[in-house]
Amino acid sequence: MRRVVRQSKFRHVFGQAVKNDQCYDDIRVSRVTWDSSFCAVNPRFVAIIVDASGGGAFLVLFFFFFFGRIDKSYPTVCGHTGPVLDIDWCPHNDQVIASGSEDCTVMVWQIPENGLTLSLTEPVVVLEGHSKRVGIVAWHPTARNVLLSAGCDNAIIIWNVGTGEALINLDDMHVDMIYNVSWNRNGSLICTSSKDKKVRVIDPRKQEIVAVSLCDN
Ligand SMILES: *[C@@H]1O[C@H](CO)[C@@H](O)[C@H](O)[C@H]1NC(C)=O
Ligand SMILES: *[C@@H]1O[C@H](CO)[C@@H](O)[C@H](O)[C@H]1NC(C)=O
Repeated sequence: MRRVVRQSKFRHVFGQAVKNDQCYDDIRVSRVTWDSSFCAVNPRFVAIIVDASGGGAFLVLFFFFFFGRIDKSYPTVCGHTGPVLDIDWCPHNDQVIASGSEDCTVMVWQIPENGLTLSLTEPVVVLEGHSKRVGIVAWHPTARNVLLSAGCDNAIIIWNVGTGEALINLDDMHVDMIYNVSWNRNGSLICTSSKDKKVRVIDPRKQEIVAVSLCDN
């Protein structure tokens, strides 16, 4: 009989759920139809996109501060006028998070040092440029204040968050919905997957597609 060896590099790692007294409970995670993880984590906070009537909201919970039931009245980040679809913590500042929404905008938020005690309605900056909902936000991994967003208008915009201006607008590279976007390690390239069944590697500075998968079916 062959011995079954798990090939994964995580084969010696076994996860175990923590006890109930170290869990968050009763969180109304967003039920909007969108392929997103609906959460984002950094060394200080966990953020979770939640259901909100008449707008969009996400929770920001300070780790180790408390666990247990999250009351319905718990403060949220709630400045969008439509559901929030994606969130991403800034890699250079643990107090800063970006959100993309069905309201076609991207917002960047400054979370107070010790987390939210009141709901936050005023973003640091609103980034307007997409003509349809914004489903993906992803910070540049190395350059400060550079954020990418992808919308259902099939466009990718790279923003200077400091000035609120679009640095690069890649609106002619995709013919169909963008499913996901990923930066390479130093942020010189981005990779996208799209509903047209193609994977593209794009050099955003040169604004050109440097590679595209050759799958026709
Ligand atoms: C999108 O890509 C990121 C990596 O850049 C990955 O962590 C995430 O799970 C992907 N999201 C979806 C919905 O596939
Ligand atoms: C970034 O990484 C790529 C390889 O992934 C490399 O070719 C390129 O020179 C790097 N750029 C910078 C500015 O370091």
